[in-house]
Amino acid sequence: MNILVLGGGGREHALAWAIKQNPKCDRLVVAPGNAGIPDIGETAAFDICDPAAVTAFAAEEAIDFVVVGPEAPLVAGVGDALAEAGILVFGPSAAAARLEASKAFTKEVCDAAGVPTAAWARFDNAADARSHIADIGLPLVIKADGLAAGKGVIIPETLDIALDTAKGMFGGDFGAAGSTVVIEEFMPGEEASFFVLCDGETALPLGTAQDHKRAYDEDRGPNTGGMGAFSPSPLMTPALEAQVMAEIVRPTLAEMARRGTPYRGLLYAGLMIHEGRARLVEYNVRFGDPEAQVLMMRLGGQVLDLLLACAEGRLSEMSVHWAGDHALTVVMAARGYPGGHARGEPIRGLDRLPDDSWNMVFHAGTRMADGQLVSAGGRVLNVTARGGTLAEARARAYAMVDAIDWPGGFCRRDIGGRALTG
Ligand code: AMP
Ligand code: GLY
Repeated sequence: MNILVLGGGGREHALAWAIKQNPKCDRLVVAPGNAGIPDIGETAAFDICDPAAVTAFAAEEAIDFVVVGPEAPLVAGVGDALAEAGILVFGPSAAAARLEASKAFTKEVCDAAGVPTAAWARFDNAADARSHIADIGLPLVIKADGLAAGKGVIIPETLDIALDTAKGMFGGDFGAAGSTVVIEEFMPGEEASFFVLCDGETALPLGTAQDHKRAYDEDRGPNTGGMGAFSPSPLMTPALEAQVMAEIVRPTLAEMARRGTPYRGLLYAGLMIHEGRARLVEYNVRFGDPEAQVLMMRLGGQVLDLLLACAEGRLSEMSVHWAGDHALTVVMAARGYPGGHARGEPIRGLDRLPDDSWNMVFHAGTRMADGQLVSAGGRVLNVTARGGTLAEARARAYAMVDAIDWPGGFCRRDIGGRALTG
């Protein structure tokens, strides 16, 4: 098969790396890709958020299957356009991708389906939002309704910050994403990520992970796209997984089908776990980044069979084969991330590292300049390892981090730490 993966981050490198291990994959193209892709496939450059451009490329290149990595092309209707053109695609329709594109939409679906989640209210002007904040007081969570690259969620530490945040969101701090604002109850607890494949009929749990969203050790510093992850999550016991499927995932899928917009693709449920029960924080309509890196490391080549079965509506025939293993990834980011940072800095030492099914450096923001690997983004490398235990995976990943020569990079040193020390 000829397979096209859309996206250019570590998630897409990991997806492509796992897909390539499956003998069904003949030709692999990643658009736009990054400097890690040429080791496993081709790269191509076109606007991946333009449904016509994606469909034209897929038709010209005789692509059999398109795997969409990030949310933006899905929200832009790339999945719909490919389906209309008769090209098999993994990823939901734009209507179903609203589960990520609008927080208020997700909350409405949750209410209609009886899904446990934080109490909420939606606002379309600053005055009403500010008077609601003054009424309910802290703690609370303020969210820009639309896509804001993971930055549109504020947990204010004082009432003044809360009131200013609401004003700023309506003042355009998050662009159009903030023209509607959702204010939520603050949920205490610990977070885990739960991944489910859905083909419109069958829902197949794919695995669990935990992300580290803050920039610095001990969960300090600004929120980021994710500084590291590990899988499985020790929080997700079989009993909790059963509760999440019964109370959160299946009712949501039923409600989406009832609305005439069945969900097909990967549903990422962000969960808050407290006193042995999970509530939904949010949905994403794609794999997490960097959670995909640890899932792909553990799943390997079977991923292609699972994604194909999902796209073809054959999930009821499938099961996921897990080894009793663990994987952990450390994100190396450019100093300054998630704020301003340098680009174009040389990165050395990767050629000395192992590159196999136990140790893999996935590229995120990288490119080649005059034969030298250089940084080209905020999150740059995802240093990923597998082991029989979490401790083993972690030791392997940090040993690789220490062998990478990039003075302008930084990483957290405590990925997986809390899961190990309890
Ligand atoms: P989101 O973009 O919705 O995942 O939110 C980003 C982060 O904010 C989540 O991963 C949580 O850590 C936190 N968060 C969001 N909503 C809530 C809530 N209602 N209660 C507590 N924490 C939350
Ligand atoms: N790592 C969080 C996300 O992909 O949304």
